[in-house]
Amino acid sequence: MSPPHTIILSLFIIFISFDLSFGFYIEDKHYQTNYQHYTTTAPTRLMRMTHMSQQMVNVDNYGAIANDGRDDTEAFEKAWNEACSIGAILVVPEKRVYHLKPITFSGPCQPNTAFKVYGTIKAWPHMSAYEKDRRIWIMFDSIMNLVVDGGGIINGNGRKWWQNSCKVNKSLAVTFYQCNNLQVKNLKFKNAQQMHVRFQKCFNVRASNLLVKAPGNSPNTDGIHITGTQNMIISNSIIGTGDDCISIVSGSKNIRAIGITCGPGHGISIGSLGADNSKAEVSNVIVNRATLTGTTNGVRIKTWQGGYGYATNIKFMNMAMRNVTNPIIIDQNYCDQKEPCQEKESAVALSNVVYQNIRGTSASEVAIKFECSKTVPCRGIYMQNVILTPEDGDGISATCENVRFSNRGKFSPHCSSA
Ligand SMILES: *[C@@H]1O[C@H](CO)[C@@H](O)[C@H](O)[C@H]1NC(C)=O
Ligand SMILES: *[C@@H]1O[C@H](CO)[C@@H](O)[C@H](O)[C@H]1NC(C)=O
Repeated sequence: MSPPHTIILSLFIIFISFDLSFGFYIEDKHYQTNYQHYTTTAPTRLMRMTHMSQQMVNVDNYGAIANDGRDDTEAFEKAWNEACSIGAILVVPEKRVYHLKPITFSGPCQPNTAFKVYGTIKAWPHMSAYEKDRRIWIMFDSIMNLVVDGGGIINGNGRKWWQNSCKVNKSLAVTFYQCNNLQVKNLKFKNAQQMHVRFQKCFNVRASNLLVKAPGNSPNTDGIHITGTQNMIISNSIIGTGDDCISIVSGSKNIRAIGITCGPGHGISIGSLGADNSKAEVSNVIVNRATLTGTTNGVRIKTWQGGYGYATNIKFMNMAMRNVTNPIIIDQNYCDQKEPCQEKESAVALSNVVYQNIRGTSASEVAIKFECSKTVPCRGIYMQNVILTPEDGDGISATCENVRFSNRGKFSPHCSSA
């Protein structure tokens, strides 16, 4: 990448970081205007520039066959090694379907290395190929300034996995690990074995124009999972799966999701946090402009009893809920295991959570459910212009346990107790 563009990108990233760090609790009008900056064209221009002069490495020239039943893993490995070592664009050609076993694309790479999926990458169907590490199908590991895009499809071919699903490990995924200044855009992820895309320990990430699709009854198929990642924006993406559309877990900070369409699925979640008495740290999360349709939850924060740490400065704003079963929910007694969970004193502390301009319909009677910890109550819960009505005309209510909240503007259904 030429120096001026490096500077533009750096400035852009610094700006994002600055805004995420300091812009959190400013008044809402600023939010609306600040948002404009997120749609600047800097990264797009950058892409075009790098594209013109750059070398291409086509997987077909490294032995990829793109035939059903044929394994293209080795060809992709060779092509990647070449692209990475010279800073070229790895090209997955259009109208062809390539089959991959678990594979890791490792950095560090020469600057400008990119990955363009025009065609389809499909997962090797036999589960035995995944025994070495049940967490990874495709991994991008420790690559700086990577751009992954192209408009193609990454298909997890997950049907067999869903039939054999068990709760032991629900984390096989296309994984971006320790990638800084990452862009993932214009891609379709479908039918993942388990999670669709995981961002783990990444820094400065832009994910945009993603389409993530799996059947509503496919188990554990989270859409976008964010763990240990800082300074990330997900924008303009459509996600419908059998689990959380977006899940944000410990170690994540300065995360924005803007313009998300979610459903079917379990909604947009922070957590689960604090499993196995673990420490959780999540802060500065903004979900702005989301539409959720027919999901089991709308916006959810879920923590296990016995954990510790915090989730703080979280804002859910400008959302439409359509027939969502639990539109607004905090569940600090989350228990997703066969045996019942024991009551424990310790809890992940939840504070400064804002719900603003949230409208729509609830499929269940309890549209707002705050089930906070007895020992560590939720603090600083703020509701402004939250109006939820029943989908089918029955009653509607809010349950509010161990929560300290305030409200401005409309808030309906209102907590009957606090
Ligand atoms: C499940 O994942 C964990 C890490 O998250 C790993 O240590 C363990 O070996 C995995 N178990 C199986 C059965 O693959
Ligand atoms: C609303 O959601 C409920 C429960 O998920 C479902 O049974 C019902 O068919 C949905 N209604 C509409 C109009 O989609």
